[in-house]
Amino acid sequence: MHKITMLGAGLIGSFYTMTLQGHRAKDHVQVICAKDLEDARKFAQKWDIPKYTTSIDEAIADPETDVVVVGLPNYLHKEAVLKAAAAKKTVFCTKPLGRNAAEAKEMLDAVEKAGVYCGYLEDLVYTPKTLKALEAAKNGALGKILWVRSRETHPGPHSDWFWDKAQSGGGAIVDMGCHCIEIARSFIGKDLRPVEVMCWADTQVHPIEAEDSAIGLVRYENGAIGQFEVSWTFRGGMDLRDEVSGTEGTIWLNHWLRTGFEMFTSVGQGGYVAEKAEGDTGWLFPVGDEVGSLGYTGMFADMLDSLDAGKPPVESFYDGYVVNAIVDAAYRSAASKRWEPVKLDAWRGREGVESVSHVVEYDADHILIKEEKMPDGKTKLILKNRKTGKIEQKFLD
Ligand SMILES: NC(=O)c1ccc[n+]([C@@H]2O[C@H](COP(=O)([O-])OP(=O)(O)OC[C@H]3O[C@@H](n4cnc5c(N)ncnc54)[C@H](O)[C@@H]3O)[C@@H](O)[C@H]2O)c1
Repeated sequence: MHKITMLGAGLIGSFYTMTLQGHRAKDHVQVICAKDLEDARKFAQKWDIPKYTTSIDEAIADPETDVVVVGLPNYLHKEAVLKAAAAKKTVFCTKPLGRNAAEAKEMLDAVEKAGVYCGYLEDLVYTPKTLKALEAAKNGALGKILWVRSRETHPGPHSDWFWDKAQSGGGAIVDMGCHCIEIARSFIGKDLRPVEVMCWADTQVHPIEAEDSAIGLVRYENGAIGQFEVSWTFRGGMDLRDEVSGTEGTIWLNHWLRTGFEMFTSVGQGGYVAEKAEGDTGWLFPVGDEVGSLGYTGMFADMLDSLDAGKPPVESFYDGYVVNAIVDAAYRSAASKRWEPVKLDAWRGREGVESVSHVVEYDADHILIKEEKMPDGKTKLILKNRKTGKIEQKFLD
């Protein structure tokens, strides 16, 4: 059993606490820390948490807790992680790890120097659908992964600090692109180096300095592409979808809207419907198990089970640092309108990998480009002559 210091009693602090203390869980939040004492007190009362405070130092130093969970605004992640490392406590930090790669690297160095156990709380690679899809991809169901498209869009975040670039580190890219980037890395291979990024970003709607919309392409060393699409201007709730394309197959994942629970009500269902739902009347798309569907359940199971087993969790601080480095390159690209290199001080993955491109042999003279069953029942082959390079077609009866 672990006793936990929870830093932050906002949206993520609630989801995390709900997950950690759900059902008949063994682990318990022992201390809750929020900026406002009354918020902390109410949170403690709601979740049966013995202690509450407004002091990050006091919460981390609590003699009964062995794990610190950082669910604070982005500008406080580094300070909280450095303090947890100094206190020699296990530390799990929410996304994005830092506001930029420099902050994330400082955090990574601090935990490694202190020798404390740590994990990067990237929930969306742990959703039940994603875990199953990743397993299928790992078993070769899709062949070589060529392209992963990941989309997260909603009408914008719920707290002031997200909208202030200085406090958040940026807009939709750092806030949500970090999820999409890690989803793509997980399918493409976290041991493959992200080489460069091309990104469009704009402030289409909201009166803020940061971007509220962006699309980016991350090219990996083997030629695979991770595509992220993020927006704080989307209307209609939260759109969370992933597409994975490989040489042998495809996966489409839809995590949130219209996933099999649809309700019409003219009078409302009496409150909260689902994260970022825009209304509570008309057609609604509630979610049966929010913390499960968003991956929080699988994520904390991995973090705490791996801690108990003395092995690293799936999502490490190093992963958080790589994601921040990709996000930084995306911001540079959006400004320069060019491909920008991903700058990593330390690369811990593979070097000199093979390209995803591959040749399907047909006969001594030809390479197969494509085979298709036509409406008349014949099979048509598109072939390339090895010597002349000429493209030819041939029918099989
Ligand atoms: N899917 C996800 O993983 C996910 C979802 C939402 C948010 N987040 C991340 O979680 C973090 C927090 O986001 P949120 O949505 O919960 O924000 P929020 O604004 O809802 O909550 C922030 C909390 O931090 C507390 N806080 C702020 N300053 C403090 C201080 N100086 N001392 C003590 N407590 C302080 C506030 O009182 C509040 O309880 C962010 O980094 C965000 O990116 C992750």
